[in-house]
Amino acid sequence: MKILTIIGARPQFIKAAMVSRAIVERNRRGENPTVAEEIIHTGQHYDINMSDVFFRQMQIPEPVVNLNAGTGMHGEMTGRMMAAIEREIISRKPDWVLVYGDTNSTLAGALVAAKLHVPVAHVEAGLRSFNKRMPEEVNRILTDHVSSLLFCPTHAAVDNLSKEGITSGVHHVGDVMYDAALVFGEIAAHSSTILHDLDLTPGQYYLATVHRAENTDNPDRLRNIINAFNVLEDTVILPLHPRTRKILQRVFPSFLSPHSSLRIVDPVSFLDMVELEKSARCILTDSGGVQKEAYFHGVPCVTLREETEWVETVEAGWNQVVGTDPEKIIVAVRQARAGTPIDEYGQGNSASNVLQLIKNIKS
Ligand code: UD1
Ligand code: UDP
Repeated sequence: MKILTIIGARPQFIKAAMVSRAIVERNRRGENPTVAEEIIHTGQHYDINMSDVFFRQMQIPEPVVNLNAGTGMHGEMTGRMMAAIEREIISRKPDWVLVYGDTNSTLAGALVAAKLHVPVAHVEAGLRSFNKRMPEEVNRILTDHVSSLLFCPTHAAVDNLSKEGITSGVHHVGDVMYDAALVFGEIAAHSSTILHDLDLTPGQYYLATVHRAENTDNPDRLRNIINAFNVLEDTVILPLHPRTRKILQRVFPSFLSPHSSLRIVDPVSFLDMVELEKSARCILTDSGGVQKEAYFHGVPCVTLREETEWVETVEAGWNQVVGTDPEKIIVAVRQARAGTPIDEYGQGNSASNVLQLIKNIKS
């Protein structure tokens, strides 16, 4: 059986790493049939610290091709990916195309495969923000509607699909990102030196990430976020996404020079990120993955958006969704505390659940 995995953006490398590991382990055990995985890297993310570092550190198999399609507006980028993916699927003849999450790479892979009648398996299916102005919402709705196997990380995701009439091929498998947090959390504990390198004391800094289009492309929202970071009483470590750095350079260059509490660093590796997350006093983010990782590592989160797909983190008291008003952000950080356990993300075996289900279903 041949699986063609299509990935291109940072969070997809992290999710795919766990399923690739499950495939390698299964083949090492000599189980039949052998599962061959070929990885296509769309090139959506291309900086060393947005791509190569994850392949190296997480031992993700080398992609068979990099499509270098990582620039341009959404239509141009997605179109370029689709044309190249079509050629790859035709020549490689996979039994399944496997896609992750909600990026342009996800949609490009899913649409092309569906039109070539190759079944699509979607990891992280069913998430919804109910905000169609988000490019990710469009990408995931369309991907889910052409997928044959839909792997949901939460029961809320299963319910969302059911409300859209999708019930066949839907499985609650848990969250492959939880698998990654367990495996790499342990490795990071004895290999990452990031706290020492940045001279940080556990519990005495905040960790922040900002990259969501609704925040970076709106100067008022971006200014509010940075202003809020600057008045927090402890250091705020901000590993800066290249999208946000480029926009700050253009619109608010002064924010990039040293400020009172804000410390901007380049994007960090996954092992370093995990260590930064574990010891943060509170995490402030507009990232999807980071909201959950905060919970995985027992750290409260303040989400700099108007809504979240990860509603269970809010219901359990770990996450406050506050938008970008500086006063609301500061109040939320002061109130942030641990919540109750969430029984949604599995036991660290989500990747093997995914593989088992793909293998059991004839394409
Ligand atoms: C993309 C995804 C988003 C995901 C995020 C993860 C879409 C529509 N968006 O957003 O869902 O949360 O990845 O990080 O697919 N850039 C670089 N170097 C890189 C990568 C990007 O300089 O290695 C810059 C480029 O100027 C690029 C911009 O960042 O134009 C935006 O990159 P893009 O992949 O379009 O969107 P993200 O904001 O990264
Ligand atoms: N991440 C990382 N280094 C960083 C910032 C984030 O390794 O400097 C990881 C983070 O731990 C999480 C993933 O990247 O696993 C989240 O990706 P991102 O926020 O880019 O995308 P999203 O989850 O919002 O789609």
